[in-house]
Amino acid sequence: MQYDVILPAAGSGKRMGAGKNKLFLELLNKPILAHTLTVFQDDQACRAIYLAIKSSEKTEIEELLARYSISKVVAMPVGGDERQYSVNACVKQIRAADVVLVHDAARPFIQQETIHKLMQKAATHGAAIAGVRAKDTMKRVSNGIIEGTVNREDLWMIQTPQAFNFELLRRAQQQAEKDGFLGTDESMLVERLGEVVCMVESDYENVKITTKEDLLFGEAILNRRRG
Ligand code: CTP
Ligand code: MG
Repeated sequence: MQYDVILPAAGSGKRMGAGKNKLFLELLNKPILAHTLTVFQDDQACRAIYLAIKSSEKTEIEELLARYSISKVVAMPVGGDERQYSVNACVKQIRAADVVLVHDAARPFIQQETIHKLMQKAATHGAAIAGVRAKDTMKRVSNGIIEGTVNREDLWMIQTPQAFNFELLRRAQQQAEKDGFLGTDESMLVERLGEVVCMVESDYENVKITTKEDLLFGEAILNRRRG
C-alpha cells in the first residue's frame, strides 16, 4: 500500500534564532528540509509530497528540490500564520487519497519503520500518531507550587508523523476551521470529533529541530547512522 505526505515547512524558526527559516540550516552540509524530503523521496510507499511553504521562499525551495533530486512534490501551497493552517492549505490541494501522513519538516530523523507502522494502523483504524513514553517524573504545577504528581505510565510525548484516513483528516480540518478551533496537532482535531486515534511507539531520535542544541544532537545522530 501507499500513502501521501503533508510536510508543513512554512514556519519562521523563531526559537532557533537564526534570523531565517531554520529548515535551511545545514546538518552535515545538507539542509534540514532536504534531509526530511529525502526520507520520503526514498520510501517506495510514499506516492506524493505536499509541501507548505512561505511565498518568499519559493525560489530557494525549488532550487533545493532540484539540487537533491526530490521529484515527488506535487503541490507547494503557501502556508498560514499557524502550523494548522499550513497543514490545511495542503489538505485543500488533495483531491483524493487513502492514507495521508502529516509530518513536521523539522523532524529529519524519522525512521521508515515508524512511517510504515503508522500507515498500516491508519489504514485499519483511521488515525495513528507517533510518540514516545515520558521519561521524567511529571508534576502538575500551579503558580510555582506543585499540585501533584501525574502517573507517568499514562503519559506519552507526541511527535509526528500523524497518519489518517484522508476523509477523516479532511473532516477534522473542516470542522476546526468552521469552529475557529486551533489545536497543537492534527490528532486534537480528530479527537474532538470523538474518533479513535491509535498510539504508535516511535523513538527518542525523532526530535523536532527547535533550538540550537538540537543541531548538535542532530549531527551526532547523522554521524552515528553513517557509521
Ligand atoms: N510550520 C508551518 N507553518 C507555520 C508554523 C510552522 O508550516 N505557520 C512548520 C514548521 O516549518 C515546522 C513545523 O511546522 O516544519 C513545526 O513547527 P515548529 O517546529 O514550531 O517550527 P517554527 O514554527 O518554524 O519554529 P518556531 O515555533 O520556533 O518559530
Ligand atoms: Mg512554531
